[in-house]
Amino acid sequence: MTSDVLSSKELSKIDPVFGQLSFDNHEQIVFCNDKDTGLKAIIGIHNTVLGPALGGTRMWNYNNEWEALNDVLRLSRGMTFKSAITGLNLGGGKAVIIGDAKTQKTPELMKRFGEFVHSLSGRYITAEDVGMDTADMDIVREVTPYVTGISESKGGAGNPSPITAYGVFMGMKAAAQFKYGSDVLEDKHVFVQGIGHVGESLVEHLVNEGAKVTIADINQERLEDVRSKYNVAIYNGNDIYSEKMDIYAPCALGATINDNTVRKIQADIIAGAANNQLANEVRHGEILKDRNIVYAPDFLINAGGIINVYAELENYDRQEIIRKTENIFNTTIEILDRAKEGDVTPNSAALSIAKERIEMRKRELEK
Ligand SMILES: NC(=O)c1ccc[n+]([C@@H]2O[C@H](COP(=O)([O-])OP(=O)(O)OC[C@H]3O[C@@H](n4cnc5c(N)ncnc54)[C@H](O)[C@@H]3O)[C@@H](O)[C@H]2O)c1
Repeated sequence: MTSDVLSSKELSKIDPVFGQLSFDNHEQIVFCNDKDTGLKAIIGIHNTVLGPALGGTRMWNYNNEWEALNDVLRLSRGMTFKSAITGLNLGGGKAVIIGDAKTQKTPELMKRFGEFVHSLSGRYITAEDVGMDTADMDIVREVTPYVTGISESKGGAGNPSPITAYGVFMGMKAAAQFKYGSDVLEDKHVFVQGIGHVGESLVEHLVNEGAKVTIADINQERLEDVRSKYNVAIYNGNDIYSEKMDIYAPCALGATINDNTVRKIQADIIAGAANNQLANEVRHGEILKDRNIVYAPDFLINAGGIINVYAELENYDRQEIIRKTENIFNTTIEILDRAKEGDVTPNSAALSIAKERIEMRKRELEK
């Protein structure tokens, strides 16, 4: 069954793709559908000036397709700036698969998705994100070389999450250095929201450093598991955003800093792994700045994962991965200083450096 033909007046109210607020001159958006496997995916290629668009695939049970499209557009744009600021020769892309990763992910679906990735001939290279792991990428690898984050036994760099967590830890330490004059996190009270692949690893670093850690997640089993491993506290309240804490580390999904939360947050520092933490990067970034809360830009400090998967393309070793990831500390300090000097938000300072790099490359290519 097809829907009624919409009148041009009705359509003008919708503009679902190019008119989306999150559409920021994306080069290409690919809608993938396969009846047999139930695959419904969207691949967003934001910008390929610096190189092929690399970014993970997220499988999530979105409320509707609009939400999925909005997510992929925001995520792929973020990848452009993440790679640019990290100095990697990669563009920005991302994919979302609509569905429940626990019940709807099958090897057939992953293979079919891989074939869609392959059809783009390397303009987009995938990896894991929420709802995916290295085993899924290994399946995708069976049908396309345009995938990273595959397991070490298959010649890949393995799960990127521990490196992402290490980079976030570096960014958090840099933010502490900037805010408190010391990067030592001992006795700082850190709330880690989302203790999945990255969050758990971050908890481990924080506990080793002597921080006081409280964890929050919607998955009760994960909470019990992480508590028993690291002896941390579970958050039992019903409004994490009103809690007093030193550092808030969003490590679940994006947009947790929004109109409902931004004025309540009690932390000195926000530093976490989640992509697109600010629902509106300008407005919410400004409010955090006015409230004297140091925000370590997500796309800057969560770049460890992409550094790790980039090693598969560039053949650099573990030592180089660690060196590049540790450099997140220096870049974060540089961005926070630059933001302070220019009286702009850290997000805006980081974005302008990333954009400068892309513009420079564009001019070189045009010569
Ligand atoms: N994995 C990486 O290397 C990597 C790299 C860069 C950025 N990120 C970002 O970091 C975040 C976490 O990634 P991950 O790989 O750990 O994902 P994951 O799926 O392993 O973990 C996410 C966790 O968040 C929990 N969660 C979901 N909604 C929540 C909510 N409303 N409140 C509390 N907890 C909630 C889930 O139950 C899960 O435990 C994502 O935003 C991802 O895009 C991940």
